[in-house]
Amino acid sequence: MVSSNGNHAEPTFLVFGKSGWIGGLVGDLLKQQGAKFEFATARLEDRAGVLADVERVKPTHVLNAAGLTGRPNVDWCEDHKIETIRVNVLGMLNLADICFSKGIHLTTYATGCIFHYDKDFPENSGKGFKEEDKPNFTGSYYSYTKAMVESLLSEYPNILVLRVRMPIVGDLLYPRNFITKIIKYDKIVNIPNSMTVLPELLPYSIEMARRGLTGIMNYTNPGAISHNEIMELYKQYIDPEFKWSNFTIEEQAKVIKAPRSNNLLDTKRIEGEFPQILGIRESLIKHVFEPNATHADKVRAEVRQMRGR
Ligand SMILES: NC(=O)c1ccc[n+]([C@@H]2O[C@H](COP(=O)([O-])OP(=O)(O)OC[C@H]3O[C@@H](n4cnc5c(N)ncnc54)[C@H](OP(=O)(O)O)[C@@H]3O)[C@@H](O)[C@H]2O)c1
Repeated sequence: MVSSNGNHAEPTFLVFGKSGWIGGLVGDLLKQQGAKFEFATARLEDRAGVLADVERVKPTHVLNAAGLTGRPNVDWCEDHKIETIRVNVLGMLNLADICFSKGIHLTTYATGCIFHYDKDFPENSGKGFKEEDKPNFTGSYYSYTKAMVESLLSEYPNILVLRVRMPIVGDLLYPRNFITKIIKYDKIVNIPNSMTVLPELLPYSIEMARRGLTGIMNYTNPGAISHNEIMELYKQYIDPEFKWSNFTIEEQAKVIKAPRSNNLLDTKRIEGEFPQILGIRESLIKHVFEPNATHADKVRAEVRQMRGR
């Protein structure tokens, strides 16, 4: 794609979300790759500020990992609806509109938590939601706004929307890591889900931007893995004495404010771009469990301390 600054050859990236988890990792990766990039300083909803960032950096590609995710979790959005709209709807569309009007390719780290198993897509059926399927999960305000915005973003010819799910990194003490979350909880549900192993998939996102891909992309490893299967892997590689207990979705509902989505996403599109992509179980073994197994004693001790049991 040719941007308004006429730069054909070496892409220049402008990254939103410097202080965030995914944005920080994207910045690290661009640095490792020796890519030309800068972080944005503007708030997404500040049109003049975003335009100033674009004028300053003159990007060919924008990578957006900014957004409200809620702290300690998405339940926060239930009580902060206006703030959620301002950033995840107004801010996101502002950035989309500016990139469109300037001829800049935009990749946005969005969410796949806008689908839920139902009678047409039953759990364990192997039938995954495709890119063109309409979201069927708006049970949390976070997902509701993300689903609405995804549909609007898909009208733009310059945008790649990546449906991220339950992101995972190798650091088993990092609190936002999906595996760390389920290790810490007293009780977990046990449902197969599509997930995004960031050390494997983040480089693909930058490559997809370079390739100028657009539209919606289910951005997860192929297949689904359940909570218990992940805990079994933890037990096998790190701590043979690890114990956990399960509860039902109905019991889980009593300790969270908004329902959570559980789903399998169809990954044919990303597999077409990256035939080497690993299935979720293989990716977890390669990027999380094998590297941690090399110092399992230390990891086990730290995780036990973190759990306080
Ligand atoms: N983590 C997950 O479980 C998960 C799962 C699926 C999808 N995603 C999606 O992936 C994206 C990145 O997630 P993340 O986990 O990296 O989020 P994060 O760690 O919460 O970081 C969010 C980033 O967005 C920035 N931000 C918030 N409001 C902003 C605004 N109005 N203008 C500009 N920047 C703003 C924050 O900057 P400040 O600190 O300055 O506010 C921060 O840098 C989000 O869109 C999220 O929905 C995340």
